[in-house]
Amino acid sequence: MTVLEAGAAPHIPVLIAEVLSALSPLDGAVAIDGTFGAGGYSRAMLEAGAGRVIAIDRDPTAIEAGAALVAASAGRLTLVPGTFSELDRLATEAGEASVDGVVLDIGVSSMQLDRAERGFSFRADGPLDMRMSLSGPTAADVVNALEPKELARLFWIYGEEKQSMRIAKAIVARRDSEPFARTSELVAAIESVLGGKRFGEMHPATRAFQALRIHVNGELDQLSDALAAAERVLKPGGRLVVVTFHSLEDRIVKRFFADRSRERAGGSRHLPEATVPPATFHLEGRQPIDAGEAELAVNPRARSAKLRFGIRTEAPSRSIDRDALGVPSLFRDRP
Ligand SMILES: C[S@@+](CC[C@H](N)C(=O)[O-])C[C@H]1O[C@@H](n2cnc3c(N)ncnc32)[C@H](O)[C@@H]1O
Repeated sequence: MTVLEAGAAPHIPVLIAEVLSALSPLDGAVAIDGTFGAGGYSRAMLEAGAGRVIAIDRDPTAIEAGAALVAASAGRLTLVPGTFSELDRLATEAGEASVDGVVLDIGVSSMQLDRAERGFSFRADGPLDMRMSLSGPTAADVVNALEPKELARLFWIYGEEKQSMRIAKAIVARRDSEPFARTSELVAAIESVLGGKRFGEMHPATRAFQALRIHVNGELDQLSDALAAAERVLKPGGRLVVVTFHSLEDRIVKRFFADRSRERAGGSRHLPEATVPPATFHLEGRQPIDAGEAELAVNPRARSAKLRFGIRTEAPSRSIDRDALGVPSLFRDRP
């Protein structure tokens, strides 16, 4: 049995050809898959000739489901539970202090979204949970505890929800009589403000659910820390490939690569070069790579996907400045 034959994937990997191309050459390479999910990227990297893949996921159900692929990999796939913000430490513990490639496919998997009991979806009723790792405070804990202004800020910053304050007030009015426990209860509170779903339009709960998910899982902090961890663990010539699904994530990746590939202060020839640390990544292009029509026809989820990648230089890694990358800080620095 080849690695490819070890179980059908319940999640269609996004931009897979583009990911493999950005990571190439993979022959004999050691790579980190920071978001194992259903193993689509890990599987493809092994099929493309990677010598070893160290895959990480914070969701224990993904780790459990990946056992078959590990068994089929003849020792070439190591699957570890943990967060990708610590990918350099996890790789070192797995025996690889430096690697040739790192790939991150940010966000939730189809398995997480489609299982009502995980509480990620406004489409099916389930516990208001949203924790990828199944540990820590749930989305219900958050909506039942935050001050109205904090809730509004969360929906505005992480969901770009224009009606954030009205939704926060509706939540507080309901939770005063009965705390939230189910996704359907939150959907009803949001619909009491925004109305129900209209044909051809986005579901009114989309932005609030996205915001809660980002907050519950600390997703943007995780992303910025993972970029810094990848910078530390990649060998010169190694490749960092990141696929994102919304503008908040893409902005962080874009700013990271712009900052790390800058050769001159402010891009100006007239400023002293000594003030700019040497570039840690080389970029082959500034524009993100999107899915083509053929992929969109079979996987509509790819519509919002953006791929960016960089090639590690020999320059030493440096610390990350979350503010400069545009990582929003929810409850500090209020305007
Ligand atoms: C979009 S899916 C990845 C799908 C995968 N590329 C595939 O083809 O099957 C994202 C996965 O990353 C995991 N994940 C999200 N944030 C994480 C983090 N900070 N650390 C580790 N895993 C994370 C999720 O649990 C989920 O399983």
